[in-house]
Amino acid sequence: MTPAASPAALPRSDRPVLVTGAAGFVGSHLCERLIERGHTVIALDDFSTGHADHLKALRRHTRLQFVRHDIAQPLPEGLPACGAIFNLACPASPAHYQRHPVATMLTSTVGTWRLLELARGSGAVFLQASTSEVYGDPQVHPQHESYWGHANPIGPRSCYDEGKRAAEALCYAYQREHGLSVRVARLFNCYGPRLRPGDGRVVSNFIVQALAGRPLTVYGDGRQTRSFCYVSDTVRALLALMDSDWSQPVNIGNPAEHTVLELADRVRALTGSDSPLVFRPLPADDPVRRRPDIGTARSVLHWRPEVALDEGLALTIEYLRERAEPTLAVLHADWHAAPELVRGRTLQAVNRQD
Ligand SMILES: NC(=O)c1ccc[n+]([C@@H]2O[C@H](COP(=O)([O-])OP(=O)(O)OC[C@H]3O[C@@H](n4cnc5c(N)ncnc54)[C@H](O)[C@@H]3O)[C@@H](O)[C@H]2O)c1
Repeated sequence: MTPAASPAALPRSDRPVLVTGAAGFVGSHLCERLIERGHTVIALDDFSTGHADHLKALRRHTRLQFVRHDIAQPLPEGLPACGAIFNLACPASPAHYQRHPVATMLTSTVGTWRLLELARGSGAVFLQASTSEVYGDPQVHPQHESYWGHANPIGPRSCYDEGKRAAEALCYAYQREHGLSVRVARLFNCYGPRLRPGDGRVVSNFIVQALAGRPLTVYGDGRQTRSFCYVSDTVRALLALMDSDWSQPVNIGNPAEHTVLELADRVRALTGSDSPLVFRPLPADDPVRRRPDIGTARSVLHWRPEVALDEGLALTIEYLRERAEPTLAVLHADWHAAPELVRGRTLQAVNRQD
């Protein structure tokens, strides 16, 4: 294994850094850290699931330039030659990607291809935000990077899972054929401020429901497990990976494994809510167990998560308390239970929020 480079040594740091998906949950936090570190940032997003408010703090910053664009379309002329590209563009919430499966596939395949071409042209180092979903519903536990996964190629999640698997394959095809320098970060559930209240992810769903005094929707019996990584830890890992010269996939997540029921209990305790739980059928292909083996991140990036679940949840609750729109979360929470009934209403609501 090659040791990581020094923390401030982003490749070709004299050149701008391109972040796609910059107005999203993770992307906006990443842009802030990059600006803090002195980089010039080209922030690109089509606002399909992100929001301009997420970049509010940087709006007038002289080292941030925003480009509104869909990466599946030909890239705009005149993008400056970048030293590094972080490709985070892609809807991450199942409610969003299952509503737009074709656009999701094209974002991860055609969009990633366009950005890899851009990286090749400018000699940029390319980091792909991949996902634990490449492991599908894993039969090996915890998941190590060497595990090839157990993904359904045609199910309702396949637009996301297989899109991300194809994106990884494209990265390594460019590495083999063109010698491109690639980084692949397999992110496990990440949470924190800027999760959108109506986004349909389990952490934001539970918090918004608890704050509204509504029942918390649990899919299946709630004994399925997830590992939750606070966003500042995730972003620190993305930067460490880009700083390093490690070109194999790296799991980025918190190995502390919690059942969904435990998460519901923590949220109820931290919000002071006595909301009951309601149980709905487990959606198709929902993974039963999820926990990253982060041995590679520990040894190669000298990284480990630092924010404990209660601490991160408290910060997320504080954020969502000011923004929660209970109706939206309830609609999303019912998504899997009766999509044919709520689909239209849910998306109208999301669009209104945009
Ligand atoms: N948050 C997590 O738990 C998690 C877990 C695994 C992987 N990831 C990956 O990390 C990345 C960021 O996730 P997030 O949680 O911030 O999601 P998000 O939905 O908040 O952000 C994604 C951003 O990408 C933008 N986008 C989507 N399609 C685009 C396109 N075709 N062109 C330009 N912009 C586009 C959206 O508008 C949004 O701002 C995604 O690639 C996601 O797959 C996230």
